[in-house]
Amino acid sequence: MNDIRIAPSILAWDLGDLERAVEISVEGGADQVHLDVIDGHFAPNITFGPGTVKALRRRCELKFDTHLMIDNPQQYAEKFLEAGSDLLTFHAEVLDGVSFDDLHRIVSSKGKEMGLAVKPGTELPPWVSERLDKISTLVVMTVSPGFSGQTMDMTVMPKLQKISKLVEDQGLKTDIEVDGGVEPENVHEVVKRGGNVLVAGAGVYAKKDPVAAISLLREKAERVRRSH
Ligand code: DX5
Ligand code: ZN
Repeated sequence: MNDIRIAPSILAWDLGDLERAVEISVEGGADQVHLDVIDGHFAPNITFGPGTVKALRRRCELKFDTHLMIDNPQQYAEKFLEAGSDLLTFHAEVLDGVSFDDLHRIVSSKGKEMGLAVKPGTELPPWVSERLDKISTLVVMTVSPGFSGQTMDMTVMPKLQKISKLVEDQGLKTDIEVDGGVEPENVHEVVKRGGNVLVAGAGVYAKKDPVAAISLLREKAERVRRSH
């Protein structure tokens, strides 16, 4: 079973002070920083691009987990890798087997990890099964992409469980990342179903003490692990 990893999503912080957002992640002992890139086409918001990732890279050494919610990832993958992303996640909804393979070549040629995300209503497409071993992180979204601060969609839980079982049955070490509405109160729901990377936007940055919120999420998750 892979270790629990906490991935604060800086989208939930003051976008005028992202330097502080990454500092908080460091101070709280986060394992990676989750960077949400949204283009206004794939999802109804516009966030930031490779320039921002690069600027934050100079200020932070944590693993950068860049979540591309964009329609045309082929056009930008290299730029986000060069900017300093360590894990680059693409959405299954905008790929097929051929484009996945092209992107995988690009990501692995830079020695980086590739993630694959699905929206709440999307099942893993058939072309994924023969490529599972190329994916370091499967991202199960539990809110519609676009905004931080939404409530976790619990109807996604059976899919999360199914994906975790698929990974386990194949003997793979794929991380299962849960993204959307993760809060201390629902950590048990996702960890008991195999989620090990917990993205938290509002669950960290909207709290009075965001640094402590990171440890609290970790404690809750570890406690579920011990009791199972
Ligand atoms: C949604 C993003 C999420 C989001 C998480 O489009 O992919 O990463 O910022 O924020 P919370 O945890 O507040 O749902
Ligand atoms: Zn995200």
